[in-house]
Formats: sequence, structure tokens, C-alpha cells
Amino acid sequence: MTIQKVMVIGAGQMGAGIAQVCAQSGYDVLLHDANQQGLDKGMEGIRKRLTRAVEKSRINEHEKQDTLDRLKPAIEIQDVSQCDMAIEAIVENMDVKANVFRELDANAPAHAILATNTSSLPITEIAATTNRPDQVIGMHFMNPVPVMKLVEIIRGLQTSDATYKKVEEMATALSKTSVEVDDAPGFAANRILMPMINEAIFAVHEGVASVEDVDTVMKLGMNHPMGPLTLADFIGLDTCLYIMEVLHDGYKDSKYRPCPLLRKYVNAGWLGKKSGRGFYQYE
Ligand code: CAA
Ligand code: NAD
Repeated sequence: MTIQKVMVIGAGQMGAGIAQVCAQSGYDVLLHDANQQGLDKGMEGIRKRLTRAVEKSRINEHEKQDTLDRLKPAIEIQDVSQCDMAIEAIVENMDVKANVFRELDANAPAHAILATNTSSLPITEIAATTNRPDQVIGMHFMNPVPVMKLVEIIRGLQTSDATYKKVEEMATALSKTSVEVDDAPGFAANRILMPMINEAIFAVHEGVASVEDVDTVMKLGMNHPMGPLTLADFIGLDTCLYIMEVLHDGYKDSKYRPCPLLRKYVNAGWLGKKSGRGFYQYE
């Protein structure tokens, strides 16, 4: 069965980006969020980005309209019954994701693949909440999805070769380059990236350098497009903390201990760009 219709669950920064890229690549897309405001915001962001792409002559008006025609909001998760695939991109929390996967499993057609965009949580454990662990897989996009070329594909213990092949083909159809990564805490991307971000936060916490200077060191000294603290704000400090906790719990190694300053900011509701305040202030 070819994949034609996809439900994206979670209309936040990742889900909206994934829905946009799928619709631009010719898939019919239902974008679902538990929260109507979140869904409206996600749809509005996609419209704005497509309008900007027209202004920049990357696409024409006709392509923009075709993309929007393929993309529909869906407030009911049960509408996954119409889909060949679901890609979950909700909050990085095992219990919440497990509930969503149970719902998806109960409502999706038997042939449907259930993918998760989790940054770090075990695919095998997510798959075990369903009756189709052979059709559950990690499809880890990078932020911002329309720009970043990489997708990590992560097999759970029981993921079938047929599921892997279909997802690999889909990543290619979305003009992404995929890599196969083992189902290990943080996979490859975040096992490497997050300790650097966490260390940058420790440098600020211990007074080694200011927020701005830590970012300048990595931008001008290492040619990173964004400094690590700007990047942490961009990813979401809650997501960064969840990932560090998964690394710490998974490897039981103190080198992954989340910086107390990161935890303090998250507890204060300073989640980075999306909440208006993190290491920097927005608006
Ligand atoms: N969504 C969609 N498109 C975006 C975007 C967004 N949020 N932000 C920027 N873009 C696009 C814009 O369309 C822009 O092109 P136009 O000017 O033609 O519209 C293009 O990117 C370049 O943007 P800017 O000129 O505004 O800014 P920039 O040159 O600094 O690039 C950036 C922005 C691409 C985000 C760049 O700063 C960058 O690569 N930063 C690092 C991103 C990164 O490391 N991502 C990985 C995060 S980790 C992760 O995703 C895994 C995880 O699990 C946490
Ligand atoms: P976000 O906070 O921007 O968006 C999450 C969305 O999910 C919100 O709109 C929220 O209303 C919705 N949601 C929460 N619970 C839900 C539920 N039970 N059912 C339906 N919708 C629900 O988060 P994000 O940054 O887009 O991250 C989403 C996922 O993608 C996480 O697993 C994260 O680890 C992963 N990820 C994030 C990044 C990043 O840079 N932010 C990169 C790659 C992967």
C-alpha cells in the first residue's frame, strides 16, 4: 500500500513544519492538535511561510494554493481512520505519547504506519503501547523542518524491514537525507548536540561567560549558525530538559546531568522563544 494520506499529530513548531513539507511534497495531510488555538496557530504559520516562499519566488501562487488544498485541520484524532500513516509530534513526554499511540492504534487502518518525531524517547517502548509494533518507527526531523535536510530514522526492536523501507522512501520524497540510527537514548543527533547545549548553560551558570559571549564564542569561533543558547531557546528549554533527562536516566552517567539553571528556567515557565522568554527575551 502506498502512502498517500498522512495525519500529523501536534501542530507546534515541529508538527506544523512536518505537515507543511508533506503537503508541499504531494501528500494529503490532516493536521491534528488537542488544542484548537494550537491548531489555528500551526495552520496560520504554514500559510505565512508559504506566502513568504511565493514572495521569495521559491514557489508560485499556484503551488501555494495546491499545498493548502492538500492540508486540512482535524480536531478529532479519530480521523486517522482515513490515513495511511501518522507522524506524532507532541510534547516530549512518554506517558502523553503512550496515550496518543494507543488512540492512533485503535483508530488507524491496519496497514497504517505510526511514526514518532520524538527527540530521544525509546521507540521500542512507544511501539509496545500498540498492537502493531512492527509498524511503529522513529522519524526524527530537525528544526526548522522546511529548511533542515536531515531525518534520523530509528527502528524499534520489532520494526519490520517493510516499514523501514517505506519511511526511508518517504524521507527521500520529502527531499530529506536520512540516516539509520539505533534505538539508544538521544539517538545520534541529540546525544551529540544536547550535551554541548547543556555545557553552554553550565558555563553561564558558573559565571565563565555571559549568555551573549557564550553564543559569540560558538558562532564566530566555530562557525555555528546559531549560538548554543539561542539554539536552546529556539528548540524549547522544556524539550532540552526532557532530552537531558532521557540521556541521564538512559546512560546513568553524570556527564549528562541537566544543568540546574536549565531546570530553574523551565520551572519558571521560561521555555525559550515559544513562551517569550528563555536565555533571551522575545518581542
Ligand atoms: N521555519 C521555516 N523556515 C524558516 C524558519 C522557520 N522557523 N526560520 C528560518 N527559516 C528559513 C527562512 O525561510 C529563511 O529563508 P528566506 O529568508 O528565504 O525566507 C531561511 O530559513 C534563512 O533564515 P534567516 O535568514 O532568517 O536566518 P538564518 O540564515 O540565520 O537561518 C536557520 C536560520 C536556518 C534557523 C539557521 O540559523 C540555522 O541553521 N540554525 C541552526 C538550526 C539547528 O541547529 N537546528 C537543529 C536543532 S536540533 C533538532 O532539531 C533536533 C531536536 O530533537 C531538538
Ligand atoms: P511544541 O511545544 O512546539 O508543540 C507541541 C504541540 O503538541 C502543541 O501544539 C500542543 O498543543 C500539542 N499537544 C500536546 N499534547 C497533545 C496531545 N495529547 N494530542 C495532540 N496534541 C498535543 O513542541 P515541538 O517543539 O514541536 O516538539 C514536538 C516533538 O518534536 C517533541 O517530541 C520534541 O522532542 C520533538 N522535536 C523537537 C524539536 C525542536 O527543535 N523543538 C526538534 C526535533 C524533534
